[in-house]
Amino acid sequence: MLLIPIGDVHLGARACDVDALRRTVSEIQNTENAFWVGMGDYAECINLTDKRFDLKSLEPRFLPRLDDLANACFEELKQILTPIREKCLGLLVGNHEETLRLRQSQDIHGALCLALRAPNLGYDCLLRWTFRRCKAAKHGRFPATTLKILASHGTIASRRPGAKINRMEDIASNFNCDIAMFGHGHSKLASERIELDVPASGTMRLMERKKIVIMTGCYRKNHAEGTLDYAEKAGYPPVPIGSPRIRIRPFALPRDRFVVSVG
Ligand SMILES: [Fe+2]
Ligand SMILES: [Fe+2]
Repeated sequence: MLLIPIGDVHLGARACDVDALRRTVSEIQNTENAFWVGMGDYAECINLTDKRFDLKSLEPRFLPRLDDLANACFEELKQILTPIREKCLGLLVGNHEETLRLRQSQDIHGALCLALRAPNLGYDCLLRWTFRRCKAAKHGRFPATTLKILASHGTIASRRPGAKINRMEDIASNFNCDIAMFGHGHSKLASERIELDVPASGTMRLMERKKIVIMTGCYRKNHAEGTLDYAEKAGYPPVPIGSPRIRIRPFALPRDRFVVSVG
């Protein structure tokens, strides 16, 4: 089972690498048992009347739709993501979509969820993912196991990887989850730890649980030719593009249940 979080696309920005997004979509479409979660900030959502608007940061092909920028991005996102909509576990909202909703009463995220028929996960959510074997065990029942996932667009935007991981681990410690995924930070990071426990009753034994925190990458560069981008002016570092991959083996031993690849 493969889980790929897709977030921080920022379509509409000239620095958005839409070809990289199409490659990820194609991988999900062509991989059996691959699923994805939308992590927010799908479109830049900075339109003409926004004080953050900068013509040099706009992707030139959207110029003819300057008076309807969010809808133009929404239409392209819908077209790109439709082939994998059946594999979507849900879509979080990002702060860029939220700013548009709060300032200009345009809920582009809600519209995208409706168009893709995907669950609207809000800003933070807990997912419960149950896996059941097709083959019955000796006692006749079908073994099942559950994975709990915290998914959040988040607000973590520290400059250094260590600071981002510290904040992700702090937040994840508030939730009973196996995997905690965060967007917004535009980094691909992962950190894991093992938690120890004992059974609530019966024979005492040491039980292990693997818990991982992940920052889910981005599809927007901080530096692009021909721009005077806010990311460049703020001194943000160049960032890797794309999504991490989480390979899940739900019935494996606790330490082998999932492996994250950020490369
Ligand atoms: Fe973002
Ligand atoms: Fe964000």
